[in-house]
Amino acid sequence: MPIHPLFDAGTIAERVAELGHAITRDYAGKDLVVVPILKGSYVFAADLVRHIALDVAVDFLGVRSYGDDQNSSGVVQITTDLSRSIEGKHVILVEDIVDTGLTISYLYDNLVTRQPASLKIASLLHKPARTRVPVKIDYLGFTIDDVFVVGYGLDYGQKFRNLPYLGIVANEDR
Ligand code: IMP
Repeated sequence: MPIHPLFDAGTIAERVAELGHAITRDYAGKDLVVVPILKGSYVFAADLVRHIALDVAVDFLGVRSYGDDQNSSGVVQITTDLSRSIEGKHVILVEDIVDTGLTISYLYDNLVTRQPASLKIASLLHKPARTRVPVKIDYLGFTIDDVFVVGYGLDYGQKFRNLPYLGIVANEDR
């Protein structure tokens, strides 16, 4: 399947470092928990936390989002829940991509009921053209057009997560 390069590894690394530095500035002196949403954000989150120069805890949320390979239905199931309480903690949810916004808004509403001190969102990518639920992304890597992207943790049919760059899947049906 042809994949057209979108952002190379160097461009991604620079942007992720900037986000990490911004988080370091914003959360100095605070009890921070970074929550990557599995699976798509594991590569982004692994790089991001290494640019956060604070005592940071990392805990994971596993989700299954129903739909076909390229579209989420908005029905989200938590398959792996957090291992610790986030009550009173400052939490950043880390997502690979906000597409319709359905997944992240479901998770945001769920986590907010657990009474964190604050809850913010970091996302590597945002596709505003596909918005169904508006979401405030506090730390955003890149805004992209309505294209389906893979690599750097993002998959198509569970493949391509290992590509070190982000690329666009050519698909005439979309
Ligand atoms: P949303 O609920 O529509 O915002 O979709 C969020 C989830 O759909 C993301 O966390 C991804 O797992 C998946 N997704 C949406 N767009 C893409 C894409 O372009 N490439 C790979 N996965 C995507």
